[in-house]
Amino acid sequence: MSDNTIDSLREALKQSPDNTPLRLLLAETLLTSNRLDEAESEYSALLRLTHDIKPKIGLAKVFFKKGSYSACNVILEEVIDKGSDDIEVYTLYAKGLLKENSHAKAIEAYQKALTIKPGYFDEELDDQLRLRGTLDAEETEEETDNRFLQKPTINFSDVGGMDEVKKEIELKIIKPLLHPELYKAYGKKIGGGILLYGPPGCGKTFIAKATAGQVNAKFISVSLNDILDMWIGNSEKNLHEIFELARQNTPCVLFIDEIDALGASRSDMKQSSGRHLINQFLQELDGIDSTNEGVLIIGATNTPWSLDPAFRRPGRFDRIVFVPPPDAKTRTSILKLKMNNKPTGTMDLEAIGKKAENYSGADLDAIIDIAIEQKLEDSFSDGIPKPLETNDLINALKKHKPSTQEWFSTAKNFAMFANDSGLYDDILTYLKIKK
Ligand SMILES: Nc1ncnc2c1ncn2[C@@H]1O[C@H](COP(=O)(O)OP(=O)(O)OP(=O)(O)O)[C@@H](O)[C@H]1O
Ligand SMILES: [Mg+2]
Repeated sequence: MSDNTIDSLREALKQSPDNTPLRLLLAETLLTSNRLDEAESEYSALLRLTHDIKPKIGLAKVFFKKGSYSACNVILEEVIDKGSDDIEVYTLYAKGLLKENSHAKAIEAYQKALTIKPGYFDEELDDQLRLRGTLDAEETEEETDNRFLQKPTINFSDVGGMDEVKKEIELKIIKPLLHPELYKAYGKKIGGGILLYGPPGCGKTFIAKATAGQVNAKFISVSLNDILDMWIGNSEKNLHEIFELARQNTPCVLFIDEIDALGASRSDMKQSSGRHLINQFLQELDGIDSTNEGVLIIGATNTPWSLDPAFRRPGRFDRIVFVPPPDAKTRTSILKLKMNNKPTGTMDLEAIGKKAENYSGADLDAIIDIAIEQKLEDSFSDGIPKPLETNDLINALKKHKPSTQEWFSTAKNFAMFANDSGLYDDILTYLKIKK
């Protein structure tokens, strides 16, 4: 843009200083000519004359070019708060956020731009954001399939205790798969899924995998956070593809971990972009366009209370199952399973199981690890492997504190004060607050 153009625009403005479209044109011309100070003062003048958002966005661009990224972001946040649906705003905001190292928020902003206009992309943002994921653009469909499809070798006999959970899965998932004609005879709809919830490390993922092994089905395990992170901007499409992969490989257990990533409480999944993914998810669960027959859907979360209640409607996650920490008997059987192929001397697993109160399955894994490390150290001197004894595990208990208590301190509050139609009664029963 020549300086001449700018001079003529200035001249014209002198004649009609209140002509805002003209001043806006001048400001934009100054901006593209990188005469940033002048552009800034024209945009500022406009903001005193009008409430239009164009000069605001212009000013943000000036700040961006000047390297004042936080000033740029503050203005754009204001524009966004007013309900802007402008792709350019979100793209610039994403870039501003990246400059300030707010990666997660930048992803969210870019994602928003992509939901406004599917198919849109910004090369610079693509380069910087997409590559973070492990799903390489070069990866073929087949490679993707192989990465997700598993054929588990464990089944229910590898899962210690958890009888209640096994029973629920049996009824809701396995029986319908084995006897679809019986269900049909009674007009009972097959479908829907189970949502497992509970403290970390108590076997949610493990039992889902064992379920697949139990019915000799394929197993797909994804975490919702992966779906959000890996395929920036394409979350809906890829959620759909995961469901399709399951539908093409029936019988299949589709395990979706970290369902809470969809929760309203997740502040970086604000409003509509999050809403889109939720709706997509609900549609997939409902199997609207394609049937979910032969697809067993198991979800898992540590924080079921942050889940949108729409997920709990019939045909969706209509069974919510509490996966408690293992009791003494279960702890002993978990220990038995784990010690199976290890060199052991006299081993009172019952005593250890009793002593390991509040320890999760994952905690028990850790205890065994600690004990083995100690034994290894002892064996180095003479090179002879020493068998594990009861005391080795008892000592290891002292080195690793149980991890389930913290979860209950939060869960208890929800169970007591937000126990929507008895949803969390199992927690109260477990804590002996309610019979
Ligand atoms: N009932 C069980 N029988 C045998 N092993 C178990 C059992 N429960 C837990 N484990 C062991 O504990 C480990 C952790 O369990 P898992 O990963 O399934 O927990 P989780 O409930 O999914 O935890 P998170 O909420 O952190 O995802 C498993 O790898 C498994 O070795
Ligand atoms: Mg898990």
